Amino acid sequence: MHTLAVAPEISESTLAATKTRLDQTIDHIIVSLPRPDQLSSEQRRGMIARYTSVLEGNFIYWMTAAYLSVQSEEARPIIIDNLLEEVRDSHPAMLRKFAIAADAVPTKEDTLAVHEELTSARLFFGKLSGVQTLVAMAFFEGFIQKFMAYLADLAIAQGSSELEYTDVHGVCDIAHTEGLIQALSTEMTLSPLGPDANMFEGVELLEALLNRVVYGKNSAVAA
Ligand SMILES: [Fe+2]
Repeated sequence: MHTLAVAPEISESTLAATKTRLDQTIDHIIVSLPRPDQLSSEQRRGMIARYTSVLEGNFIYWMTAAYLSVQSEEARPIIIDNLLEEVRDSHPAMLRKFAIAADAVPTKEDTLAVHEELTSARLFFGKLSGVQTLVAMAFFEGFIQKFMAYLADLAIAQGSSELEYTDVHGVCDIAHTEGLIQALSTEMTLSPLGPDANMFEGVELLEALLNRVVYGKNSAVAA
């Protein structure tokens, strides 16, 4: 008789359902995006600036929260690979260069437009819940990868040809997302969520934040 029974079938189906929900949430945001050529130059600038305001200083910090929150030894190398690439290749510098070239460095108004939703996301990551954080970062990585072509179109429409950031993230983050889903599988087995916890809490907060990034503070468009 085997003693290491971890009910892999349950974990596999939960994992598949989780991945499906993340993909559907991402696709919903992507297909709802306004066409860049139907936006004003200021609307395009604002969207690049709010994206920069959120991603530049928070992505590595939130991936670090994922590192600190996971219990499983299998999850850590995947997160470390992710962090190494971010730090070694200076992704924040790449993003800043992208924003400067598109003349979309965040202003005070851009920063304040995302303030409320950004604060909620920060407080969520502060809880250091392994499963919830991995789900949130798998969603975030997946979204970023699919958003890159659109973000590049916004920058091009603003007259920029500096596309290193969008080129790099449109490709390599596919591996990041798959790695995080793999890590989630291990974490769910080793350190499962309580019955009352919402596995998608972080995803919902990030969705609200991204809605603010896309539509700004004054838009009546809801998620
Ligand atoms: Fe990155």
